Amino acid sequence: MALLIFAAQIMKQEPKRYLITAALPYANGLKHIGHLAGAYLPADTYVRYLRAQKRDVVFVCGSDEHGTAIPIQATKEGITPQEMIDKYHPIIAQNFADLGISFDIYHRTSAPIHHETATAFFEKLNNAGELITKETEQYFDEAANSFLADRYIKGTCPNCSNPGAYGDQCENCGKSLSPDELINPVSTLSGNAPIKKNTTHWYLPLDKYESFLREWIIGEHGNDWRANVVGQCKSWIDGGLQPRAVTRDLDWGVKLPASIQNGEGKVLYVWFDAPIGYISATKQWALDNGKDWKPYWEDASTKMVHFIGKDNIVFHCIIFPVMLKLHGNILPDNVPANEFMNLEGDKMSTSRNWKLEMQDYIDDFIKQENGGSQMADVLRYYLTQIAPESKDSEFTWKGFQDANNSELVSIFGNFINRSLVLMHKLCKGKVPPLHTAILDELDRTTIEAISAAKDKITNLLEEYKFRDALFEVINLARTGNQYMQKKEPWIVAKKLRPEMGDRSEEQMLIDNCLHICLQLTANLAILINPFLPFTAKKICYLLKVVDKILDWENAGSMKLLSVGYSLRAPELLFRKIENEEIEKQISKLGIKNEELRMGSEGLRDTGNEIQVQQIKIKDEIQFDDFAKIDLKVGTIVAAEKVEKADKLLKLQIDLGFEIRTIVSGIALHFKPEEIIGKQVTVVINLAPRKMRGIESNGMILMAEDAAGKLYFVHPSSKIDNGSGIS
Ligand code: 2FM
Ligand code: ZN
Repeated sequence: MALLIFAAQIMKQEPKRYLITAALPYANGLKHIGHLAGAYLPADTYVRYLRAQKRDVVFVCGSDEHGTAIPIQATKEGITPQEMIDKYHPIIAQNFADLGISFDIYHRTSAPIHHETATAFFEKLNNAGELITKETEQYFDEAANSFLADRYIKGTCPNCSNPGAYGDQCENCGKSLSPDELINPVSTLSGNAPIKKNTTHWYLPLDKYESFLREWIIGEHGNDWRANVVGQCKSWIDGGLQPRAVTRDLDWGVKLPASIQNGEGKVLYVWFDAPIGYISATKQWALDNGKDWKPYWEDASTKMVHFIGKDNIVFHCIIFPVMLKLHGNILPDNVPANEFMNLEGDKMSTSRNWKLEMQDYIDDFIKQENGGSQMADVLRYYLTQIAPESKDSEFTWKGFQDANNSELVSIFGNFINRSLVLMHKLCKGKVPPLHTAILDELDRTTIEAISAAKDKITNLLEEYKFRDALFEVINLARTGNQYMQKKEPWIVAKKLRPEMGDRSEEQMLIDNCLHICLQLTANLAILINPFLPFTAKKICYLLKVVDKILDWENAGSMKLLSVGYSLRAPELLFRKIENEEIEKQISKLGIKNEELRMGSEGLRDTGNEIQVQQIKIKDEIQFDDFAKIDLKVGTIVAAEKVEKADKLLKLQIDLGFEIRTIVSGIALHFKPEEIIGKQVTVVINLAPRKMRGIESNGMILMAEDAAGKLYFVHPSSKIDNGSGIS
């Protein structure tokens, strides 16, 4: 057995090149730190490590701009799908750049090269007879002249009688549904009952590849892929694979080629075209850099790794690999999917506004730094420290503060700062020599700890265990602190005898301590670089060394800094995060929650499929409960957008007896100037609440239709402001 494993290891040759992909995020809104921690940060860490090893690596990503997620959200924002992707693509790309995510290309699936690549991919599979077609009956909205995607059909759930179930799922009871199962289906486009119409679609016959997938995933990778990934795949395969439709009747997406009979009005299913986006991104990168893209997708000596969140596992481990196999491409070597990251005790959610967007973090922490990126690294540090590698994890602001103050400031930054301060004070600002003749046991074990740390970190990174690897880097800094604490060069300095000059034993002891601490500092720069690239650069600056020193092969060396070399004056690498900053963030989350309750956020972004709030009948109340609510008619006399709050409008409402300020979450639905003069129904005895610093004294009632459009609730004709409603 041992011999077999050994033989397998020798046969597993060093890859010639690496292709690293990170899931293409939908360009339908800002991305939050759960996304960052799930795919982009671990991918970036791995890529930076590979680059430091001088391996041939391409890191591709980009916007996923198709699927029903895009037009549904665009309708909600009152813009066209094209306007929406053009709005979000550059912002998301910039957010990633600000946080140090170093893609070689951040492409987009709306690019012509992607449409060509995806179409050609489909054609090749179809011409080779690898796809099957089936004619089925599908719901069609005659008024909208459109076939209806599952999410565009609503009806009563056959399981729990929820009247707001959707064509693919009832969110009340969680049951997966097909549109046919809905009772009294209606189209969310027109509100009419849809008819059934025949339509032809193309299917990928996944059922034919069950044994291939079982052998490849469980047989070949059962031990080296993460247990959660293998487990999820196994249950899919065990459940029996079915042919999967790869086309849709939609007008937004990659159109089927004209050569395809009956292909008119159809597009590729977003999950067919999006992963092909990795290929088109590689092609564009190659064009931009005078390289050949083909070996990255066709040569078996390429190692491809997909970084994704757990909701994407089936697409990257089952569907895309079958597509790649049929198309003649290489398969991924690993798919290190992460679980989810929660936020302050609750699941991160775009719909419930319970999230920390990358943009918010950048605005509140990075932009305040005047060009520094120390705070980008603080976020990278904490997100890696709590990475949901094997189970869901939790971001808390307190944890963020602790990670910074107790580890980055007190251990890592403190060690480097002390080394530089003492070197300036006790060694004339120059790297002191190492007097090997007087090295003691502690010196030796500290030197050994450096190369041992390098080996551990290397192995952990190769196994995609980023949390553990980062822990080892900090542990090395901790070792440095303990070493210095035991050596106490500042105490030794008190015993220095000026008459002995540099040759006193005390000076030699100080030299040895600081020589080792400074070489350790240079090693820390190399080892922290994949995780905290801005910090690594700053250490290089302080040590006056070029970035080349960060090559991985240099780690473990005790000759990184030359004796006699003068270094810069110390500067703090990390600043303390104060309680007020943390409290501000926590209260902001509270405000977001308020915005949601006051707003009309109905759409839930759960990936390519959008879910719409279910209709729920609330618990019965007594008349007395209802009678407590004081409803009055008012007129909007002024309206303005609330700064830095996309969804909020600040309204002045004339209630006849007074003018009230009310903050309302309707900004995505109405322009301020459109609503002046409108009569509205106001809950006037709601306790005041502060939102974005503005006190809101009441709430206006809104009605919401199935598509998420909002309507004012007001009397059938104009009446006096202040009139009661009961
Ligand atoms: O879940 C998502 O956000 C998808 N847009 C991921 C696509 S990954 C790949 F296939 F492109
Ligand atoms: Zn149900």
